[in-house]
Amino acid sequence: PREHTLALIKPDAAKKHKDDIMQKVKDAGFAISKIKEEALTREMATQFYKDHEGKPFFNQLVTCMTEGPSVIMVLTKENAVEDWRQLMGPTDPEMAKATSPESIRAQFAQDILSNAVHGSSDREHALSSIECIFGEIDID
Ligand code: CMP
Repeated sequence: PREHTLALIKPDAAKKHKDDIMQKVKDAGFAISKIKEEALTREMATQFYKDHEGKPFFNQLVTCMTEGPSVIMVLTKENAVEDWRQLMGPTDPEMAKATSPESIRAQFAQDILSNAVHGSSDREHALSSIECIFGEIDID
């Protein structure tokens, strides 16, 4: 079935690799249903990553997500959530290089923290993240 996912190019990669990453998004057949470029506030980033609160890297994560504008998109296609996760590759770019050399993280991530892109982990998170960022879930 056709579905939506929340995809985000993190500040560091948005600055250096936006065009290359956007090209891979289009080549993979995603429709870009919504897009905006915006720096997350600490409040937004904390809400966005609330499932990771308490982890040792949480503060660094919020800092790295707020240090400049991100490209934030709703991507739409059949199986969008899983297909975007495949295109991103594993969280850790070393793993990504080893297992999925064509993935975005293999090609553009710096390290496990500044790992170029984010994507919803499942359909439920996709809906709540889209609402968190775009303030609505009525896309079509
Ligand atoms: P993302 O897919 O956006 O979801 C959670 C983020 O936390 C992840 O990408 C990384 O940016 C970060 N992250 C996950 N694991 C680690 C780790 N072990 N060390 C530092 N950052 C991490």
